Amino acid sequence: MVLMGVVQISTYCELKTIKTNNNCGGKMKRAFLIGKNVYLRPLEREDLKGPYSEWINDLEVTRYMEAGAFPVTNDDLETYFEQNLSSRNSVIFAIIVKKSEKHIGNARIYNISWVNRTAVRGIMIGDKSAWNEGYGLEVINLLSEYAFKRLNLNKLNSGTSADNIGIIKVNERAGYKQEGILREEYYIEGKYCDFIRWGLLKSDYLSLNEFK
Ligand SMILES: CC(C)(COP(=O)(O)OP(=O)(O)OC[C@H]1O[C@@H](n2cnc3c(N)ncnc32)[C@H](O)[C@@H]1OP(=O)(O)O)[C@@H](O)C(=O)NCCC(=O)NCCS
Repeated sequence: MVLMGVVQISTYCELKTIKTNNNCGGKMKRAFLIGKNVYLRPLEREDLKGPYSEWINDLEVTRYMEAGAFPVTNDDLETYFEQNLSSRNSVIFAIIVKKSEKHIGNARIYNISWVNRTAVRGIMIGDKSAWNEGYGLEVINLLSEYAFKRLNLNKLNSGTSADNIGIIKVNERAGYKQEGILREEYYIEGKYCDFIRWGLLKSDYLSLNEFK
């Protein structure tokens, strides 16, 4: 059943929403959601031994993430992976660049409420050489497509530090709206900073993308 879903959503994104650039040298193994330059596949246990464990311990990558406060061991990653795997309220993907087949980060939809049809969206591009290439926006659009059209969610939430200009730009471009500010909620690099709560409704997303 899950495998059928894989085929359907990949085809849907390729054909209908995010046009696929066929000029990609890689094989796109287990591709689940396919964008122009990147695709999302399931995060596998073997990925825990790759660059992921470097990213999550890199204070520059995790500067704006709660994950960065303590060192992360391979056992911690295993536990996190198992928790995601065993939960139907969380979906985690590896982000892969089509041309190079390089794993550059992870993305997640989690805290899914099947009653309220809400979830939280998370993204970490851990490979710093892949920042500012437009991949972040592409990934977030793929997650929106999946959340609204496959999982039948109604709203995605995102929380950012008010200093995280990169994710703020990406959220705005993806149609997210600011819904509130929690003052001095985060402590980042020696100072308190505000937390911005963002939301993207299914209707926001459809009105932005339906006729493109
Ligand atoms: C935040 C993140 C997802 C953005 O992804 P990305 O692929 O680099 O984003 P894009 O290339 O789509 O767009 C980034 C935009 O933000 C800008 N930007 C990024 N960091 C910036 C900074 N510190 N100051 C000013 N602008 C910045 C870029 O210049 C670019 O703007 P432009 O298109 O007008 O030139 C990625 O950098 C990342 O994962 N960072 C580490 C983890 C993280 O912070 N996750 C979010 C936690 S809420």
